[in-house]
Amino acid sequence: MKIAFMGDGAVATSIAALAKAAGHSAVLGVRNPDRSSAGSFVRTDFAQAIADADIVIVAVPHTAAGEVLLPLADALACKVVVDATNAVAADWSPILTGEESSGAEHLQTLLPKSRLVKAFNTVFADTMRADRLVRDGSGITLFVASDDPAASNIVMTFGAELGFAPVNAGPLKTSRYLEAIAHLNIELAIAQGGGTDAAILYHRATPAL
Ligand SMILES: NC(=O)c1ccc[n+]([C@@H]2O[C@H](COP(=O)([O-])OP(=O)(O)OC[C@H]3O[C@@H](n4cnc5c(N)ncnc54)[C@H](OP(=O)(O)O)[C@@H]3O)[C@@H](O)[C@H]2O)c1
Repeated sequence: MKIAFMGDGAVATSIAALAKAAGHSAVLGVRNPDRSSAGSFVRTDFAQAIADADIVIVAVPHTAAGEVLLPLADALACKVVVDATNAVAADWSPILTGEESSGAEHLQTLLPKSRLVKAFNTVFADTMRADRLVRDGSGITLFVASDDPAASNIVMTFGAELGFAPVNAGPLKTSRYLEAIAHLNIELAIAQGGGTDAAILYHRATPAL
């Protein structure tokens, strides 16, 4: 598959490296494609990056996602768009979106024709590498939420190929909880000093139906 990223920061380059290792192609969409940067990935503008993409992963600050995505709403129609963002301030402290919505649901309102999926937001970029994805024999959990079950399946299959252990968290409104989990993850890592080489592993005794 062709995987397009909005952004070329830690999350985008880490998932892109895993995707390439799994046999996918990856292109990074950026606002300044001419700026030199390290790494071997193709960088282009946002519109070119998403052309023909099978999955588009949004990996810019949550506060910038609207301005990046809105002009592309038509081009993103029918596409699987993965919201990996967390609504955090510059110091990673949470910007609370309230109990009645979530960042992902907000993005779905901006992209009503896209197949929006929440995923990757509960995983630190520091752990998105082959030597850190497996903990005590289990892959790091990749929670996936969407109102489009087929889109969830596409992202779960993609995540499994990369080495994650996908868990279907249900409809997009479950993003409210996934975003809260991310805030807890950040609190433990940053505010309480635990560090970002840390991950959440969900275990259930019986397989999901
Ligand atoms: N880091 C983590 O462990 C982690 C884990 C899960 C989820 N997330 C979420 O994933 C997203 C990306 O995080 P990151 O750590 O990869 O961030 P990052 O390393 O700081 O990279 C941010 C990317 O967004 C671009 N960007 C910033 N402001 C922009 C704007 N106004 N318009 C267009 N592009 C803009 C940056 O490009 P420029 O160089 O042009 O500014 C860069 O490509 C965030 O929403 C974050 O909350 C992060």
